[in-house]
Amino acid sequence: MSTENTIELEQFLESMSPHHDDIQQEMAEHASREGFPIIGRTVGGILHQLVTMKEADRVFEFGSGFGYSAYWFARALPESGQVVLTEEDEEELDKAREYFARAGLTHLARFEEGDALDVIDRYHGPFDIVLIDHDKQRYRDAFERVRDRLPPGGVIVADNAISAGPMDTEGLMRAIIEGEGAADLDDMTDGVRRYLEVVRDDAAFTTVVLPIGSGIALSVRHRG
Ligand SMILES: C[S@@+](CC[C@H](N)C(=O)[O-])C[C@H]1O[C@@H](n2cnc3c(N)ncnc32)[C@H](O)[C@@H]1O
Repeated sequence: MSTENTIELEQFLESMSPHHDDIQQEMAEHASREGFPIIGRTVGGILHQLVTMKEADRVFEFGSGFGYSAYWFARALPESGQVVLTEEDEEELDKAREYFARAGLTHLARFEEGDALDVIDRYHGPFDIVLIDHDKQRYRDAFERVRDRLPPGGVIVADNAISAGPMDTEGLMRAIIEGEGAADLDDMTDGVRRYLEVVRDDAAFTTVVLPIGSGIALSVRHRG
């Protein structure tokens, strides 16, 4: 069985996804030129839909880069909404500020430079939606910090649930399916494995993994 969508399927899914506006197109071209990992259009479309479906107001991101994923959230937020961007690389966050300013979206964003795991402690939430897309080895820490800041129905999206650059997708899948743990996994892959196991086994959440983009894990806090 194939573990990833074929290129053709990925192209098809992208063709069915919402269009980039001009600034997002620029952002996507910048990412492609620099080899910077962004969530891409199919996952962006899901983020946009989640905001609309949930009538979300408050969004928090662990790892925002130059703001591409946050831009998808912002495009769908109401005028009273807010997306908190966190980024430890000052230059990337400055680029995000520029893109948001040019798009007239700055009033919907908080730009927080530094370690997202520290930033989250300054926010009580609640957050309707959280995106986890920073250091894979710290995904589980992010979940543990944010889980109690999600109300019933709150959603956590974790990117790279299946693949990411050098990640060992086969090893990850084997470890999850066979439950044999981390024996031969590199640190990055093991970070994703530990995250997937903790969200899968948390009785307060229901989690599914969707094979779009690099794979997203979608965890929803139960109501009641
Ligand atoms: C995959 S990129 C984020 C891409 C972004 N979510 C998007 O799709 O447009 C990961 C980013 O997380 C940042 N990062 C890694 N660890 C971090 C941390 N502990 N706190 C804040 N940012 C972090 C990296 O500098 C990098 O820019």
